[in-house]
Amino acid sequence: MSNDKDEAAARKQLVQGLQDDLAREYKAIIQYIIFSQKLDKAQYMNIADQLKIHAHQELDHALAIARQLDYLGVYPVHMPKPVEVSEDNEEMLWADLRAEDDTINNYRERIRQAEAAGEIALAEILKGIITQEQDHQIDLATALGVVPDSRIRREKGGKGKK
Ligand SMILES: [Fe+2]
Ligand SMILES: [Fe+2]
Repeated sequence: MSNDKDEAAARKQLVQGLQDDLAREYKAIIQYIIFSQKLDKAQYMNIADQLKIHAHQELDHALAIARQLDYLGVYPVHMPKPVEVSEDNEEMLWADLRAEDDTINNYRERIRQAEAAGEIALAEILKGIITQEQDHQIDLATALGVVPDSRIRREKGGKGKK
């Protein structure tokens, strides 16, 4: 009996996690739409074009997560996580990079949860998404001149650690 209970609890955690992931995707879409237009220094024009591509990819992620929630019989959330805004070029990029760091850490956890729950197809979908999130992280970190992996950045200290 406790096994059934554990399984139900694990599934509930997985679903709640996916809802949070979807809310983070909404936030990412909004930030990328705004920042791709607001970056205004010549040195950031290249990354501004990349942010437009990110916005489209985040929309694909949101659709994929919503589809998985529907599959699990759950009504997808509609509110984004709190969006960060800034007028400062570097601050915009840091806001996006922090969001990607957070997103990647969460998808790592979600993949473990999905595999533990025997949701293999879901785990595969999440692995496809996290690969693109890491690409986003690389684009932003490169534009800012920092190491993409947040765990290494945190060890070194410095900006963007929150
Ligand atoms: Fe995403
Ligand atoms: Fe992303």
